[in-house]
Amino acid sequence: MIAQHLVSLSGLLAAALFIFGLKRMASPVTALSGIMTAGAGMIVAIAATFLMVLDLDQAAKSHLTTNLGLGILALLVGGGWAWWRGARVEMTAMPQMVALYNGMGGGAAAAIAAVELSNGTGSGALLLAVTIIGALIGSISLTGSIIAWAKLDGRIDKPWRFSGQRLVNGLFFLATLVVGTGIIFLHGSLTGAGLAVLFFAGALAFGVLMTLPIGGADMPVVISLYNAFTGLAVGLEGFALQNPALMIAGMVVGSAGTLLTLLMAKAMNRSLANVLFSNFGDGAASGGSEIHGQMKSADAADAAINMRYASSVIIIPGYGLAVAQAQQKLHEFVKILQAAGVDVKFAIHPVAGRMPGHMNVLLAEAGVPYDIIFDMDEINADFTNTDVALVIGANDVVNPAARTDKSSPIYGMPILDADKARQVYVIKRGQGKGYSGVENQLFFEENCSMIYGDAQVVLTQMVQSVKDLAAAA
Ligand code: TAP
Repeated sequence: MIAQHLVSLSGLLAAALFIFGLKRMASPVTALSGIMTAGAGMIVAIAATFLMVLDLDQAAKSHLTTNLGLGILALLVGGGWAWWRGARVEMTAMPQMVALYNGMGGGAAAAIAAVELSNGTGSGALLLAVTIIGALIGSISLTGSIIAWAKLDGRIDKPWRFSGQRLVNGLFFLATLVVGTGIIFLHGSLTGAGLAVLFFAGALAFGVLMTLPIGGADMPVVISLYNAFTGLAVGLEGFALQNPALMIAGMVVGSAGTLLTLLMAKAMNRSLANVLFSNFGDGAASGGSEIHGQMKSADAADAAINMRYASSVIIIPGYGLAVAQAQQKLHEFVKILQAAGVDVKFAIHPVAGRMPGHMNVLLAEAGVPYDIIFDMDEINADFTNTDVALVIGANDVVNPAARTDKSSPIYGMPILDADKARQVYVIKRGQGKGYSGVENQLFFEENCSMIYGDAQVVLTQMVQSVKDLAAAA
């Protein structure tokens, strides 16, 4: 009895810690403590699961001994592996890691459902329906996330498409749904006889089929959608088990994932349906008006000295900065400019990089103060009064075609107005296109000069040339 109260209390405490942790994740200043708080919530929730055993009678306890051993082994293997991988993962590989861990959550929800079905629990039609829906969503999230991981990790580099694919996928989904409904109508009695196996196989396969045709560039949105799926699946299984901690955790993850998905789609000015079904985002987008003019290049040293004597500089970081791991060098350059009296700010596009907040985390890692980092809406009006916009490894997020060219596939996507600064410098390795695969009109503008090279190398040259200048003065 006491154990039962303890379990309920722990569940409540865990849920409170999840919500409080999520709230603190809203700002980079408090994000780390937010993650720690949510992690503590998870430890409380796991402890509560073990406490449940105290409440069982002697016979059930001895039956559980083997399961407990397996549970502890799973915790050690899973926790140890996650700790080891998490400590080593590169910033650029973070999105695929998130995809994988998120998929595991969906898989865990589906596994709970499988156990519930095989135990024959959920005798009521409602509980059975909830279990089945949770299993369906969790299974799709598991295999879909694995495909998203493979795409982001470059293991699958081509979208898999054929004509009539949407119809085939739709029919497949319908068939899986019919089998699931069959289980509910048969009150789970036939689940041991293969119907459940058929259902799970269908749901798992559908996750693969649904994700394969979506282009790699859209994977961050897809991961976020599956994150919402996982939350929903966990919440539904929590309902089936009547476990409040699972229900609340699932709802929190589900709603956060949904909001993030919508935010990303909005930042790209695309609907979710367009992301899922338009076959965009494989880096081979076509369309857009022909661009006239020529790109001109500038020397890293000249650009650096120009910025040293400017009064305002806005820096726009993109995916290339993360690839080059040049954030520390960049911060060093910024500090030199600030010491010379230059007003330096950072402008962050909501989908710069490969995952939400990618650039903020990168800059925070290098120790860039938060008060000089601005979101797109806060800073866009400042470009017209700015001497230099320095674009580092960013592309699509500063393409003015999104504002003006109706035939461009990225038309309508809100962008950072870097082109409105008096002078624009763009650091990138060559003439490679952005993630969406379209040519960037900005690079051909009169006021824009390209500085070709790896961001780390170019920034090192920039730092050196302003230091040399100071030494010579
Ligand atoms: P991108 O459009 O991918 O452009 C990155 C640029 O960095 C490339 O043009 C590349 O040109 C350059 N680059 C690569 N490695 C470099 C290095 N070592 N040194 C210097 N430059 C390097 O990046 P972005 O502007 O950040 O845009 C993000 C894209 O991802 C958008 O299309 C967005 O829609 C998509 N997306 C993002 C998200 C989220 S949440 N972040 C979600 C969905 C989609 P070179 O090859 O010539 O060097």
